[in-house]
Amino acid sequence: MKQKIIMKLLTAMAGLGIVLGAVTAHASPEKDRQEMVKFYTDKYPNVPIEDYVYGALAFDADSKSQYDAIMEFPPFDSEIEKSRKMWETPFKNGKTYASCFPNGGKQIAGNYPMFDEAKGKVVTLVDALNNCRTANGEEAYKVSDLKTMGLLTVYARSLSDGMLMNVKVEGPKATAAYEDGKKYFFARKGQLNFACASCHVQNAGVRLRSELISPAVGHAVHWPVFRGGDKLFTIQKRYAGCYKSVRQVSMPQGSDAMNNLEYFHSALSNGLPMKANVFRK
Ligand code: HEC
Repeated sequence: MKQKIIMKLLTAMAGLGIVLGAVTAHASPEKDRQEMVKFYTDKYPNVPIEDYVYGALAFDADSKSQYDAIMEFPPFDSEIEKSRKMWETPFKNGKTYASCFPNGGKQIAGNYPMFDEAKGKVVTLVDALNNCRTANGEEAYKVSDLKTMGLLTVYARSLSDGMLMNVKVEGPKATAAYEDGKKYFFARKGQLNFACASCHVQNAGVRLRSELISPAVGHAVHWPVFRGGDKLFTIQKRYAGCYKSVRQVSMPQGSDAMNNLEYFHSALSNGLPMKANVFRK
């Protein structure tokens, strides 16, 4: 059923003759972000960029009011509680996750992904949580495992609600990782020849059959989500799903390539407020 909807969507899009106006190569991240914001606000002058944190709902008042009603009594409250217990349960050595982060892990998620100069690569919050585990003698979780790492991010990220996204790209190595992520975002691949940008830039705010497409700015601030109210999705699981929907092989979750994509994609939301655990269709 799902696949059928996507196929209809693709057929509809093929007819539109999408033009891919890629963001200028090697511009600064802040310039990239501003250019993308300008693209959207030129097209939709009445939708304030702050509303982009609601994704496709920013373009659909009815769905947004349904969302508001659901968010008053979130059906996933019990998952947040389970996750809080995970976060607070000490490791075998008596330490906790809070001990690994500045400010006990509060108001930090907006700094991730960050470029770790010593490691020479991008570190996501998920990686940082795993680094905390291994530094304390625990085994790392599998990054794509929703029952362990996925669930842990529910509470871990909620500690940063309200923080403004603040992804930094400084120095040549960080810039190279950012440019690598940008390349993935704009690369048209697979039999169907779609890039992330084909949908989430060129067709953001466009309703194609039953799917209203969200803009890339604002995408990275609200993870994880609960689809249908109870199905947990992390941001990289969502990337993998979008790759699959256009019949592309996804990079593995937690790979450098996927992390670089998250790095670029998150920097596009710099300045927007974080809010973990939201409802999505
Ligand atoms: C064929 C069009 C298409 C392509 C290509 C595509 N997506 Fe999506 N994506 C969708 C649709 C449809 C949804 C669900 C509606 C929405 O929220 O936009 C979605 C949802 C998302 C969401 C969740 C938005 C939210 O607010 O919950 C993210 C994040 C995302 N896509 C990122 C990506 C990335 C990164 C790529 C490239 C790897 C990509 N998408 C490629 C169509 C696409």
